[in-house]
Amino acid sequence: MNSKDPKLQVEFTQNNNLKLNLRPLRSKDEQALAKLLLSLSEDTKRFFTYPSFDQAMAASLCQDIDKYDKIRFVLENSKNSELIGIFEFSMDLVEEDITRFRNHGVNLEVARTSRYGPVLAEAYQGKGIALVVFKKIIPLISYLGKDTIILFGGVHKDNAKAIKHYLSLGFQEVCEFVNSDGIACLDMIYKINP
Ligand SMILES: CC(C)(COP(=O)(O)OP(=O)(O)OC[C@H]1O[C@@H](n2cnc3c(N)ncnc32)[C@H](O)[C@@H]1OP(=O)(O)O)[C@@H](O)C(=O)NCCC(=O)NCCS
Repeated sequence: MNSKDPKLQVEFTQNNNLKLNLRPLRSKDEQALAKLLLSLSEDTKRFFTYPSFDQAMAASLCQDIDKYDKIRFVLENSKNSELIGIFEFSMDLVEEDITRFRNHGVNLEVARTSRYGPVLAEAYQGKGIALVVFKKIIPLISYLGKDTIILFGGVHKDNAKAIKHYLSLGFQEVCEFVNSDGIACLDMIYKINP
């Protein structure tokens, strides 16, 4: 996994006129990323569990590039270079995920499973953009050796918009659980080329 790999980059046009560039996060993105994080509404932040949504968080995400098991794709508006979304993948699993899925009859293979979490700026939600992005990302994740995708700590059960989004992509529900913060969540799974 290398954020400079040119194969991990896709340019496309959405809704006829919006030119978008999907690519790994780069260290020079710190200011643009901070702007995106600071712009998110309380509702969006509640569902996307970063510890903070500010310059410090943007700096920390940029410093983490290529250091850990994560790869963070960003969606850039090609016209003004504004960042409008983050699509985060982990190439590793945590023990709780493995156990929860196993208890529901699903044996996750660590080497072939990735965890996923998306967030889009408010103004770009509800336009089908996240659907298109996910379909563009799948070949990239497959290129990185994965054939199964689950969600980071599941999805909150009251996050109707995200659940609808995952179902329309073909994710399947696996089980309900209550996370360590006492929040009711849903585990979902997606198989690449089932
Ligand atoms: C999760 C998230 C990225 C999904 O993005 P989204 O834009 O809501 O979802 P989709 O891309 O599936 O788009 C669906 C909407 O676009 C509409 N749509 C679909 N194709 C379209 C098209 N070609 N043109 C215009 N609209 C379209 C659908 O009708 C639907 O609208 P509706 O929600 O009003 O019914 C976004 O809701 C988000 O950032 N949420 C906050 C963070 C979060 O919850 N992350 C997940 C944590 S588990």
